[in-house]
Amino acid sequence: MKPIEIRPKVWWVGVNDRVSYLFEGLWPIAEEGISINSYLIKDEKSALIDVTEEMLTEDYLAQLAEVFDISTLDYVIVNHMEPDHSGALTRLLKLAPNAKILGMPKATAMMNDFYGLTENVERLKNGQELNLGTNTLRFVYTPFVHWPETMMTYLVEQKMLFSCDGFGGYGVLDGAIYDDTCADLAWYEAQALRYFTNIVAAFSKSVLSAIGKFADTPIEVVAPSHGLIWRKNPGRIVELYQRWSEYYNGPAEEGITVLLGTMYRNTEHAMSAALEGIASEGVPVTVHDVRRMDVSYILPDLWTKRGVLVAAPTYEGHMFPKMMDVLMMADRKRVKHKQAAYLGSYAWSGGAKRDFDELAEKMEWQTVNGFDFIGGPQELGLDRARELGVQLAKAVKAGG
Ligand code: FEO
Repeated sequence: MKPIEIRPKVWWVGVNDRVSYLFEGLWPIAEEGISINSYLIKDEKSALIDVTEEMLTEDYLAQLAEVFDISTLDYVIVNHMEPDHSGALTRLLKLAPNAKILGMPKATAMMNDFYGLTENVERLKNGQELNLGTNTLRFVYTPFVHWPETMMTYLVEQKMLFSCDGFGGYGVLDGAIYDDTCADLAWYEAQALRYFTNIVAAFSKSVLSAIGKFADTPIEVVAPSHGLIWRKNPGRIVELYQRWSEYYNGPAEEGITVLLGTMYRNTEHAMSAALEGIASEGVPVTVHDVRRMDVSYILPDLWTKRGVLVAAPTYEGHMFPKMMDVLMMADRKRVKHKQAAYLGSYAWSGGAKRDFDELAEKMEWQTVNGFDFIGGPQELGLDRARELGVQLAKAVKAGG
């Protein structure tokens, strides 16, 4: 895509990553891609706010050169040092030898750690401002949204917030870059939720703290480092991030995420009976088969729904491995405040339920009495599974 002037003297100069299969080497983006947004302010002085990842440096420099003489660049504002934002720095600075590189103290340390950059580096203070002529940048320290050095940059006169990873989302920008011109806003909001749960959710307290820092600041445009630029309704993405972050502290939406792992369908049959029990209570449910679904796509439901049913067999004395992977990631991402239950089959000795109980306690999940069974569930087991579904649904309804 070509550079786009999004406000007077402010340009989007981002690039789409349609190449990577995984973001951070972990999260699938082969279908959705991701945009790495960078912003240029061309005033009496010029500034770039974040750059892009190393792999896309050529695309980035080529399109920057369409609107700007890179050799005249005055400042690079480093909101965040993760290499999806900073990987092009070394090449860029060879073309812009007089540019000063600005970041919070922890960012300047990382510039040396990652790229050996020490020349022309300046440390910023929280709240410090930089006048570029007719535009003033204000730097606000927002640690752990996403790394400890991360800040957001506010363009005072134009009421624009360059929010870095905060308020970002997966999904390439298909020609349109704004919330009011994209083809399918609901799709981008879903991509923002998956991105939030994959990347940012573990730092929800920091997100809420960052939102609080801008509570009295007028914001007409939210311009994150990934995903759409929100200019028609900038409050929408802030509200979504606030709501999702608050699920870290308290109960989420009424609904149950059912996680299924099964070897010979015995656990599946028991789960089906449990689903009947849940349905009889009218609680919404989503089933994710952990054998074929990457955890990246499971986390949005796990994070936003109040209930969890883990249906998985014992494998070699422990939890079914693919289910264990999902639960370990849930623990890593600090998925808390759940009403949860376990059921599953074993062949000669259990173990999965014990692993579930230990992890549920660690994650502070409230558990409804689940059970394991030897072999197939039989009629008695199916009745018990139905009743477990009813009890879990009731707990979810009561736990709002
Ligand atoms: Fe977009 Fe934390 O990197």
